[in-house]
Amino acid sequence: MEAQCVGESDGLTFWLARPQDYDEVMAISHGIYAGNDYLPHRYHIWMTEKDRVTIIARRDGKLTALESGIVVDEGKSVVVEGLRVCPSERGRGVAGVIQKVTDRYIKQIYPSVNIKRLTRGDDPGPEKLSKFIFLARRAVLSLCGEAEKFNNFVLGLKAKLDSIEKTEQSTTNNQLTVLKDDQQLKAILLDPDLSTRLQLPGGAIIQDWLPLKPLESNLEILKRKNLTWLADTSNDKLRFLSFHTPPYPVPFNGGSLRLNIDLYGEDLRLARKALITHLEQVMGELRGTVPVHIYMPQTLWAGMQKFCEGDEGVKQIHKYWEQLFLERELS
Ligand SMILES: CC(C)(COP(=O)(O)OP(=O)(O)OC[C@H]1O[C@@H](n2cnc3c(N)ncnc32)[C@H](O)[C@@H]1OP(=O)(O)O)[C@@H](O)C(=O)NCCC(=O)NCCS
Repeated sequence: MEAQCVGESDGLTFWLARPQDYDEVMAISHGIYAGNDYLPHRYHIWMTEKDRVTIIARRDGKLTALESGIVVDEGKSVVVEGLRVCPSERGRGVAGVIQKVTDRYIKQIYPSVNIKRLTRGDDPGPEKLSKFIFLARRAVLSLCGEAEKFNNFVLGLKAKLDSIEKTEQSTTNNQLTVLKDDQQLKAILLDPDLSTRLQLPGGAIIQDWLPLKPLESNLEILKRKNLTWLADTSNDKLRFLSFHTPPYPVPFNGGSLRLNIDLYGEDLRLARKALITHLEQVMGELRGTVPVHIYMPQTLWAGMQKFCEGDEGVKQIHKYWEQLFLERELS
């Protein structure tokens, strides 16, 4: 594929990323997200993904930076992802330059886009945040264990759940269903009350760091992620929804499978059940070291942390941390 130049600025040239740039992109990506980088797995998917633009920067021919954006929300927002700068050029404003070039290019190709959205796992402080509208923060519980330890971990969780339920003597219906019917899922996601009922962060569903408004145009994006969804459908008023993204390879610990579970709704009992069910669903696929990241409302974190602690094989690997959801106008 012929390289296509999309701009020049600050001694850098900007190009649409191509499949053959993969090795150079990986060469600037060592150690990103402490080994939990999704890009080695997603890069080739991004190359052909609908309404996605991925731009690389080069200085004197050498690959220096990358940023990607996907147009979502009926063409009104772009979600930017993947930002990275090669280690030798960090701290000199290159990230700012590639972001400006990417914004400009996306606006040129998709004039309907007015909003830029992003999620990030570090809090850059009030000065940097003031450039954005702050939409929401989610709590993240990170665990890790060898694949063969998860069976015991889940057995332990089930025993804890039994004992908690006996003590709490709950009379409410706490059944969760795996949603297999696309029409049922569609009805749940497009229910106008969904956002209020589940207190969706910034009114969005954040699928493994990708924030999407629950709109029909975004359902196709969610569908191609092959998610496994759970909901408390036995109640006419939905209180809980969750999903996991199929585990995917990341560089962590020399090569691992990363599992992401996203929980919506503030009911701790349902959240505990959902965690067990999601882990049971993926058990057969797990191999090697498995980092698990569970994203949830802040109110659930302490309860979920307590629920998961005490196992010898699957342990918490990160203290409390957060996912921030931000937006700004695309000028
Ligand atoms: C984070 C990283 C991309 C910053 O690149 P950099 O060129 O060193 O960035 P600088 O500190 O010079 O900052 C330049 C601009 O980028 C912005 N920026 C820095 N980190 C950012 C981030 N994580 N998300 C969005 N913008 C960021 C800064 O706010 C600054 O913006 P401004 O010019 O509008 O003020 C770089 O350190 C890196 O590649 N780290 C590893 C990958 C990573 O952690 N990516 C984070 C993605 S959320």
